[in-house]
Amino acid sequence: MEIIHLSAECYPVAKVGGLGDVVGALPKYQCKAGHYAKVVMPAYNTKFMHQNEWQTDHEQDINMGGHRLHYKVLKEKTNKLGFDLYCILIDGLTNRDNVYSENDDTERFLGFQIAALDWISQWKHQPDILHCHDHHTALIPFMIKFCGRFNRLYKVKTMFTIHNGLYQGWFGWSKIVYLPLFEKSKVGLLEWNNMINPMSSAVRCADAVTTVSKSYMYELMQDANGLEQLFAQLHQKCYGILNGIDFETWNPNTDTYLEHHYNETNVHEVKKIHKKEICQTFGLNPDNPLIVFIGRLMPEKGADLLASAMGEAMYQTEGDVNFLVLGSGGDSIEDDLNDLKPLCEGIYNVYIGYNEGLAHRLYAAADFILMPSRTEPCGLNQMYALRYGTIPIVRRTGGLQDTVKDLGEYEGFGICFDRATIGDIVISTRRALLLYNNKDFFHYLRSKIMSFDNSWEQSQKNYERIYESL
Ligand code: GLC
Repeated sequence: MEIIHLSAECYPVAKVGGLGDVVGALPKYQCKAGHYAKVVMPAYNTKFMHQNEWQTDHEQDINMGGHRLHYKVLKEKTNKLGFDLYCILIDGLTNRDNVYSENDDTERFLGFQIAALDWISQWKHQPDILHCHDHHTALIPFMIKFCGRFNRLYKVKTMFTIHNGLYQGWFGWSKIVYLPLFEKSKVGLLEWNNMINPMSSAVRCADAVTTVSKSYMYELMQDANGLEQLFAQLHQKCYGILNGIDFETWNPNTDTYLEHHYNETNVHEVKKIHKKEICQTFGLNPDNPLIVFIGRLMPEKGADLLASAMGEAMYQTEGDVNFLVLGSGGDSIEDDLNDLKPLCEGIYNVYIGYNEGLAHRLYAAADFILMPSRTEPCGLNQMYALRYGTIPIVRRTGGLQDTVKDLGEYEGFGICFDRATIGDIVISTRRALLLYNNKDFFHYLRSKIMSFDNSWEQSQKNYERIYESL
């Protein structure tokens, strides 16, 4: 099958969160399974764009609400990601330093979607599947069905995958002029609560809708920022497919970011070396367990609880645990985390920023990873952690619930809690400390979790099954 992934992110070209990781890996595994998967994304000003060679495969003008835009389809020449990668450059619109949070994101992603369809609809053949990811590409299913300009793609099947249902891409009716002419009787398929809502449109217009875990699909049917009814009504075409992780990039035995490699048999000795180095760099105590948080510092990830919960846990355990935070996000969350530093010197530190290499080294060095997410559609960090022998401490929600079993359950291996509260995090930290001090069992668990298979091979097959049914 020929599958075209359309996405705002794709690692290592541009990544803000897990969406980038998924779109950077799934197509590779689809190609390995014999499909022809490609990625089409906007061309930003990222390092990857400047460091690689590109050929222009197509260029043309398009009209968006009376503005003439010129787009170029740039193809990476060497196929180094394991699939064909196309970046669409619209001068002045896509080529910015940031992927998101520019005040014209609506125009930027609309321009991208229109240019992508303009190009694909001129191909001599038609692809089998257009696989759209998140709201940035959510108007594509509507446009190929109801915009006369893309009529040739009318029969191409579409899948829409939700990586985060909180962001739906809403915009006001004044911007409707940006859309190419469409069948006016279908305008209702763009609307939800008096706004244009791309995500709601994709849920209605796509042939299949997926999200990245079964539990999260169930949660969306209860609460989806206003769209819950829609998911409940259309449940027959809605599926939950757990993400995999890229076992090539995330392998402690070959990881290029790590100086010392390890596997299930030498994990204890080598993790100790990594931990010592990280503790030295961040002024922490190597005899204490090291609990890390890695990710975006946003309330949806429970990051607003971290400073208070970590402070309280360090106090209650009388300084017997280390915490280290890596991430960036909300200003006040960053300030709170920085303010905690002088109070807990020697057992706590925070690195504000995005640092892929440091993240890999933290998975290798840490004893535990903490994920107190309020919502977590899938969560990849807990799966990276498992692969690196790092025990997950997670809130039971979405994909975290589907991938981590509490120690109290049959064959359990992690620490799970129910509420995103300071109290639950503190109690979980105390459980982690008890486990850490039970050395034999701790070591047994560590080797055991490294052997779990959360690779893309399995998830790939689940996508394949749905594509085939379409
Ligand atoms: C988003 C979600 C995360 C998921 C990722 C990839 O970042 O918040 O839970 O793992 O997308 O699907």
